[in-house]
Amino acid sequence: MTSLLSELCAIAGAAFAGEGLPAELGQVQLSDRPDLAQFQCNGALAAAKLARANPRAIAERIRARLAESGMFAEVAIAGPGFINLRLKDEALEARLQDLAAQPEHALAESGARKTLVLDFGGPNVAKPMHVGHLRSAIIGDCLQHLFRANGWKVISDVHLGDWGLQMGQLISEIAIRNPDLPWFDPADRSPYPDKSPVTMDDLERIYPEAAAACKSDPARLEAARQATVELQAGRPGYRALWRHFLRVSAEGLEREYDSLGIHFDEWKGESDADPLIPDIIEDLKQRGFARMDEGALVVDVAEPSDASEVPPLILMKSDGAVNYASTDIATIVQRVREHDPDLILYVVDQRQHLHFLQVFRAAQKTGLAGHAALEHIGFGTLNGNDGKPFKTRAGGVMKLYDLISMATDEAKQRLAEAGLAADYPESERSQIAQAVGIAAIKFADLSNNRVSSYVFDLECFTKFEGKTGPYLQYAAVRIKSILRKAREEGHSSGPPVIRSEEERALALQMLTMPEALESAEGKRTPNLICDFVFRLAQNFSRFYTEHHILSESDEALRGARLGLCELTLAETERLLGILGITVPERM
Ligand code: ARG
Repeated sequence: MTSLLSELCAIAGAAFAGEGLPAELGQVQLSDRPDLAQFQCNGALAAAKLARANPRAIAERIRARLAESGMFAEVAIAGPGFINLRLKDEALEARLQDLAAQPEHALAESGARKTLVLDFGGPNVAKPMHVGHLRSAIIGDCLQHLFRANGWKVISDVHLGDWGLQMGQLISEIAIRNPDLPWFDPADRSPYPDKSPVTMDDLERIYPEAAAACKSDPARLEAARQATVELQAGRPGYRALWRHFLRVSAEGLEREYDSLGIHFDEWKGESDADPLIPDIIEDLKQRGFARMDEGALVVDVAEPSDASEVPPLILMKSDGAVNYASTDIATIVQRVREHDPDLILYVVDQRQHLHFLQVFRAAQKTGLAGHAALEHIGFGTLNGNDGKPFKTRAGGVMKLYDLISMATDEAKQRLAEAGLAADYPESERSQIAQAVGIAAIKFADLSNNRVSSYVFDLECFTKFEGKTGPYLQYAAVRIKSILRKAREEGHSSGPPVIRSEEERALALQMLTMPEALESAEGKRTPNLICDFVFRLAQNFSRFYTEHHILSESDEALRGARLGLCELTLAETERLLGILGITVPERM
C-alpha cells in the first residue's frame, strides 16, 4: 500500500510529466505553513529553471492538472510559484477507513527483503552494567523495533564482552585466592565440577579488585596476560572455569534486560567468533593485508584523506593474544556467513568511534564484510549534575538494577501526587509504577539527540506534564478509558468523519506516520519518533478538548469520533511500543 504522501507525489509527478517535465519534480511534502495549507509542492520553481520559463506560469498549468484529480479541496499558487494543497475531507476519511481496516498501513515498507544484524547491549562478563550499557540497550532496542516495524528482518545480538583481558584478570585473581581449586591444576582434570565456584556477586566484587591489582602491580598484570593467552589457547581448566563465569553472568544480565522489557535474538559473545580467527589471519597474511609490526600482526587502515592519524588495526598481539579488534573482525565474518546481512549496526558509546573506524575499514578493504554496510551508531554519555558520567552517591558505577528501582520509587511518588492509581490493589499500583519509571527513563534517553550527552534528572523525567514518557502513557491510558466507558455504555465506533480543523490535523498526522518512521530509520534517530508521538498526543488533546465524544448525542457522530479515538490509540501504542514503552490498562 502506498502512503498518502506517496500517492500525492505520484499524482503531482504525473501532472509534471503531463507537461513534459520530469516527474521527480512532483515531490509533495507536508506544508511548512500548516495554517495556509496541508501540503506543498515546490517543483514549479525547479521546472522553471529547467525550461527557462516563468515559474508561476508552470505552476498554473500544474494547478489545472491537479484540480482535475478530484482529491483536492484547494490547489493554490503562492509566492513565486509554490503550489499549496488541501485535501478533500472525504479523501482523508477514505484513507482513515483503510487504516482502520489495515493498521499495518501506518508503517513504512522501507525494509522489505533486507536483513539487519543489530549489535547492542554489549555488557561485559563479570563487570556490572553501567549507564553507557543502559543507553546502548535503550537505543538498540528502539532500533530493533523500528527496523522490524518497517519490514526488515532483524537479528539482534547482545555481543557479550567475554574474551578479553578481564577474563585473565579474573582467572589469575581467583588462582591467587584459591590456588587449590581443581581448575588451576596444570594437568587436564576434566570433567571439572558442574557447580560454579563464584556467584554473580562474587564476580562483581572480585573483578574491580583484580583490575586494581593489575594496575598497580606489573607482575599481576603479567599473570593476567598469561592467563588470557592460555585461556584463548584452550587450557581445559581455564576454559571450564570461564564457562562458569559466562553462565553466571549471562543469567544475571538476562534478568536485568528482562526487567527493562528488552530481548535479544542471540546471546553471542566475542568468544563465539574466536575459532574463526586463525583462518582469517592466515587468509589476510596470504592476501598481503596483514603485516608484522614490532611483533604484532597488523592491518593498515589509514587513508590519505584522514585529518588525524588512524593507527593500524592490531589483529594479534606479540604474545599471541587476540583482542577486541580481532574478535570484532571475526564476528563480522561470522555474521556474514550466518545471516548474509545488508547492514550491521553497532549501538555503542561514541567514544569507541576510532575502534569501529579501524574495524570497518579493515573488514571492507579485505572484502570480509561481503555486501554488508557497517555503521557505528554512537551516543553521548548520561551525566550527573556535575556534568560527569552518572555515578551513585558513593561515587561508584550506577547499576542498572538500582537505576530502575530509583525510577520506580520516583514514579510511585508522582502517581500519588497526581492522584493516579490511588485506589488500585497494591500489586497493580507497583506494576504501574515500574512501567512509568521505565517509560520515564527510556523516553528521556530516546528523545534527546542520540549523540548529545544529557543530564540524569529523574524528577523531570517522571513528570506527568510536558514531553515525557509518563505523559504519553497517560495520554494513551486516557483514550483507553474513553473507549472502555463507550463499551460499557454500549456505544460502538464507526468510520471517522472529518469536519473540524482539529480532526483534520489529527488525521493528517496519522496518515503521515510511514514517512516519520522511514525518516527515523534512515537517520537512525529515535528522537524523531518521540517528537512524532508527542505531537500526536497534542493533536489528540486538542481534538478532545473541542469535541464531545461520549456526551455527543448524535449516534453516528459519536461513533465517528470513537473511531478516531481508536485509531489514535492504535498508533500511539504502536509508536510507544517502538520506543519500548508499555501502556498500562488504567492509571
Ligand atoms: N563490550 C563492549 C563495551 O563494554 C561493547 C561491545 C560493543 N559491540 C561490539 N561489537 N564491539 O565497551
